[in-house]
Amino acid sequence: MIRRYDYGSPIETGAIPCPPPAQKDTMPYFSLHRAGASLSFSLPLSKDTFIFGLGETVRGINKRGHLYRSWNSDDGAHSEDKHALYASHNFLIFWDCAQLLGVFFDDPGFVEFDLGYSHANEAVITSKNGDLRVYLIEEESLLAVTRAFRKLIGRSYLPPKWAFGYLQSRWGYASEQDVLNVVREHRSRDIPLDGVCMDIDYMDGYRDFTVDTSRFPDLAALAATLHDEHIQLIPIIDAGIKQEEGYRICDEGLANNYFCTQENGQPFVGAVWPGRSYFPDFLKEDVRAWFGAQYASFLDAGIEGFWNDMNEPALFYSPSGLAAAIDEAEALRGKNVGIEDFFRIRRVFDQLAGNPNDYACMYQCVGGHRIRHDRVHNLYGMNMTRAASEGMQRHAPSRRHLLFTRSSYIGAHRYGGVWQGDNASWWSHLLLNLKMMPSLNMCGFLYTGADIGGFNCDTTEDLLLRWLQLGIFTPLMRNHASYDARNQEIYRFDSWQAMRNVVTLRYALLPFLYSEFMKCALTDACMFRPLAFDYPQDPTACRIEDQVLLGEACMIAPVYEQNARGRHVYLPEDMLMLRMRSAGDYDRVPMAKGHHWIELELDECPLFIRRGHVIPWAHAAQWVDAVDSRNLALQGWLDDQAIYALYDDDGYAPDVELSKGLTLIHVHRTKDGVCATGDGLTLNTKLIVCDEAAP
Ligand code: NOJ
Repeated sequence: MIRRYDYGSPIETGAIPCPPPAQKDTMPYFSLHRAGASLSFSLPLSKDTFIFGLGETVRGINKRGHLYRSWNSDDGAHSEDKHALYASHNFLIFWDCAQLLGVFFDDPGFVEFDLGYSHANEAVITSKNGDLRVYLIEEESLLAVTRAFRKLIGRSYLPPKWAFGYLQSRWGYASEQDVLNVVREHRSRDIPLDGVCMDIDYMDGYRDFTVDTSRFPDLAALAATLHDEHIQLIPIIDAGIKQEEGYRICDEGLANNYFCTQENGQPFVGAVWPGRSYFPDFLKEDVRAWFGAQYASFLDAGIEGFWNDMNEPALFYSPSGLAAAIDEAEALRGKNVGIEDFFRIRRVFDQLAGNPNDYACMYQCVGGHRIRHDRVHNLYGMNMTRAASEGMQRHAPSRRHLLFTRSSYIGAHRYGGVWQGDNASWWSHLLLNLKMMPSLNMCGFLYTGADIGGFNCDTTEDLLLRWLQLGIFTPLMRNHASYDARNQEIYRFDSWQAMRNVVTLRYALLPFLYSEFMKCALTDACMFRPLAFDYPQDPTACRIEDQVLLGEACMIAPVYEQNARGRHVYLPEDMLMLRMRSAGDYDRVPMAKGHHWIELELDECPLFIRRGHVIPWAHAAQWVDAVDSRNLALQGWLDDQAIYALYDDDGYAPDVELSKGLTLIHVHRTKDGVCATGDGLTLNTKLIVCDEAAP
């Protein structure tokens, strides 16, 4: 059951395509408190209440105990003390033995989630503006609450199949030659690869939709060369538009009033990479249509994938903020600057970026009315993504496109995926990558992953190898690093063969991963789930934060500690562990329910398959289209029989139907061994374990 309650004058956010009518009665469970404009909702927490959800945030899968804020922020330090990252996903599930409640606070402004932070026995959610819709979702299980919410917010974005391949990226591929070198190094060493991301380096002076032809002389020719190698180019597009007369996008935007304004109606100016910039008002339909149409020239050049960045929107400074800071610094010139002044002036410059005062000077247009940006701040990235997605669909309707964004709100999941932003080459961020997966899935973001190896700081060889061992399972599998970080392409390291072997696993698992992804997208399910979702009666499983379920039949438990040669794992039921080194090199270890220490050398990673299930396993390949998903081996631990529902399609057509893509694989024991059948499939059953004796 889903009930909607409206407070104040809610803004239509687009999170829910067809909202149910508002209730007239008072919302149960929560007590309300108004203070000025702000409105708080409080809910008592028992000592056993779990809180799931909130999508992209720091800390645990169980969100209880911290203060989170919905305020999309360009903050490149994802430390535990942070309250907000790049996205606002205001969906939560409260669960204990007495209560199960899903709640979505549909408010595009500043919202604070005090989840047992001020008082351990209370959750208080505060909307700063007090204008919002609240949706209560009541179902009989965690899985059902999530599914009902996902159904409400609409189907998740479907990427093309090639987007499940390994992608290589770096801020700093500064020329066509750099890109070609990356491709050559991968192909010559048989490191599978499907895409190379182009960061802002390809642009002419950081102007969107331009190319610096001195360094990238012919983008269409480069895209064609790469297509011959079965590799896609994936350029970045930023939110800010350089302020410059004669730059077409800027001129068109000004001529048509497409940019966000100041209070006096003049275009708002803030600085990002090109210096002073304007910001398209993506809440206006005509602006979305115009911006989305700009992607056409790249599509015509043979490009089929993009990433949208800096769309919180990030502001490095406003001209007035910078001028004031410089004045303050000037006033110190020649003085003997003591500690107070030194820290103060440092803070003044630190606070220039993403300053709330600047967002408060920005205006957007909602339904024909001017509205201060900070009331709708969290919708900016979502609407940029929507502009791009709709523009691409209009221009090239017969194909799916790769699109992922940094900033998002619930609803953006219908238009693209998200990457988890500027993480660091820290072991704790490998674990954070894992923890964010189920939370993002609950909010509809299925196509997601983090910068493998870490974006900021210098990675280490073992960290990259272990991170790849997690990355092989995440739908977006991209190695990306900052311009000032150490080079971290696989081929830079002595152990590149071990890393290459790990990537081959991704391709062996591709039919399985694609099948699980598509089934989840088409049935509003979560590909990654906390163990609590499937084993709610198992108190040990419910508290686990470093293992997650993957699809219907699997569990993953990556190694995330430096120098570890194994880890502790809890199995909520009997499972078969594949201890994997490469697509053709793994051990099969049946294991009983319970606690285990498992040995894992640096080049080994585990995948657990629930007893009684099988999963498909392909021959590895160098790119996605070369994976033969009709000729499969089956991995698993069979009792008498099992069924796997394999989804597959051509990987490109936008119109997909679950029933058309499904082939049921039936597996059963015979007196001579194992027999498997599936329409049109060649199936090898040699890898199935049939040991009757429990381990
Ligand atoms: C910020 C993004 O998060 C990062 O991935 C990118 O490399 C830089 N912007 C430069 O474009």
